Amino acid sequence: MPVLPQGYTIRRLEPQDYDGVVETLKVLTVVGNVTRSQFEETLNYWKETTVKIGVHSIPAYNPHVIVDDSDRVVATGTVFIERKIIRDCGLVGHVEDIAVAKDQQGKQLGLLLIQHLTKLAHDQGAYKVILDCDDKNVGFYEKCGYRRCGVEMDHRL
Ligand code: ACO
Repeated sequence: MPVLPQGYTIRRLEPQDYDGVVETLKVLTVVGNVTRSQFEETLNYWKETTVKIGVHSIPAYNPHVIVDDSDRVVATGTVFIERKIIRDCGLVGHVEDIAVAKDQQGKQLGLLLIQHLTKLAHDQGAYKVILDCDDKNVGFYEKCGYRRCGVEMDHRL
C-alpha cells in the first residue's frame, strides 16, 4: 500500500497555494496569466458552490494539493461532484486537472492523489468517478484502479 513520503500531506487547496498551484499546473497545460485575485475569486466560488442532497449540502468542487514539509505544492488535482437526474438523482465524481511537479514525479504522489480524490467522491455518495486522459496516461490510471470506458470527444472554439 503506497504512503506519502515523510513530511508530505494532502489537504484542500488554500489561497496561499497560488504560486505553487499555478507553477505545478504548467506540467499539464497552458495556465495563462491568472492573477492572485482571480485565483482567490475562483477559490471563493468553488467554496460556495454546493450540491444539495436532501437536507445536507456537500462541496461540489474539491480541489486538493499535496505539499512537502515546507508547505510547497508538489501535486494538485480536483474532483468535481455532479448531481444528475438519472440513477435516482445520483452523484458522479469528475477527476480533473491532475498535475505532479516535474521533479516530484515517480514518487507515487499522483497515485495517492487519485486514490484520495476517488475515495472522497465515493464517500460523498458518488456511484462512479470518471475522467478524461491522453493515451499516454492510460497505464497510470489503470494503476490507480480505473479502466478504459468509452471515448473522449470535444468541441472547441
Ligand atoms: N504511463 C504508465 N504508467 C505510469 C505513467 C504513465 N504515463 N505515469 C506513472 N505511471 C505508473 C508509475 O510507474 C507507477 O507504477 P508502479 O506503482 O508500478 O511503480 C504508478 O503509475 C504510479 O505513478 P506515480 O508515481 O503516482 O505517478 P506520478 O506521481 O508521476 O503522476 C502523472 C503521474 C499525474 C501522470 C504525472 O506524470 C503528471 O503530472 N504528468 C503531467 C500532467 C498530466 O498528464 N496529468 C494527467 C492529466 S489527465 C487528468 O487530469 C484527468
